[in-house]
Amino acid sequence: MVYPFVLPRVVCVGQGALYHLGTEMERLGARKALVITDKGIIEAGLHAKVLQLLKSHHINTTVYSQVEPEPSSECVEQAAEIAREGVYDVIVGLGGGSAMDVAKGASILATNGGRIRDYIGIEAIPVPGLPTVLVATTAGTGAEVTMNAIFTFKDEKVKKGVVSRYLLATVAIVDPELTATVPPHVTAATGMDALVHAIESFTAVKATHHTDLYALEAISLISGNLRRAVACGSDMEARSKMALGSFLAGVSLANAGVGAVHALAYPLGGRFQISHGVANALLLPTVMEFNLIGNLEKFAAVGEAMGESIAGKSVREAALAAVKAVRELSLDVGIPQSMKEVGVTESGVEELIEGALQQTRLLNNNPRSLTKEDIRGLYLRALG
Ligand SMILES: [Fe+2]
Repeated sequence: MVYPFVLPRVVCVGQGALYHLGTEMERLGARKALVITDKGIIEAGLHAKVLQLLKSHHINTTVYSQVEPEPSSECVEQAAEIAREGVYDVIVGLGGGSAMDVAKGASILATNGGRIRDYIGIEAIPVPGLPTVLVATTAGTGAEVTMNAIFTFKDEKVKKGVVSRYLLATVAIVDPELTATVPPHVTAATGMDALVHAIESFTAVKATHHTDLYALEAISLISGNLRRAVACGSDMEARSKMALGSFLAGVSLANAGVGAVHALAYPLGGRFQISHGVANALLLPTVMEFNLIGNLEKFAAVGEAMGESIAGKSVREAALAAVKAVRELSLDVGIPQSMKEVGVTESGVEELIEGALQQTRLLNNNPRSLTKEDIRGLYLRALG
């Protein structure tokens, strides 16, 4: 089987990776950079560190800090307008998935023109964008290594994705020190999102030998360290392993894609404004249970990677142990355990089903095919 395997051009991972930023920007010939971030990052003082680093390398900067959670099409178009007018060499995305997605979107809109809705779908972008340097400040989204960017279209109350090689970062920087101030509930939600990336890509139709290597290691690192990272944010060993796990899961996701958990989670975010990580974590065990018969061996391997003892267990029992391990982890790190807990009612389910059915790319990559009735059953079970 022949398959492509993509990565950002340069990846800097580990404690102190941020200090490679200036050198990497110099290598790109940057003189003028647009830094795209959000207010939380500015309040945490992380942008000041980045601006100081860039200044010491004689790079002029402008900051766009209006990135909102689950960013809208209007937000990315506003950032792109600034990028176009300012004639920048490089766009720096500093933050979690939202800031990095806006940076990716602004980069391609700056060179291609038009609106972000023109490029929804797979490989619909005509020419490359401005070079991007993506600096991750959470351990979860994997946005620094993926070729996706997701935006909320408020008029349709739906999230849609742009998928293109041109969204791959020129440089990705993953420094666990930047995650030290992330509060416990965000650490939990983004960490569970990373676990979903690893499990979904590992069991995906498009999984390959390459992506399996990344995904299994990610499952082991995340499930072994998320509790500690949530319990004690300054535990740099746990933060480092979470950052690495999230990065590896992102690489697997970028190449093998995700499946029904994400397909069912997107409408939850779009319609009920539930954060991406929480929506995914809520649906993960229910969807896994449904998916088990699609690939018992792989789900059994997930259980083993999560530390479940598989000695004396049948493959089916080991696969079920993976679901149990996911439930326990989610509960331990404080994720809501039912959709009702986050304000979803039965009357909202039909709208969610319609939203999920639109995610055909993800549904086709799921290890078990789903009918409309299957999707209804999963939402009702997750409702609690
Ligand atoms: Fe995700």
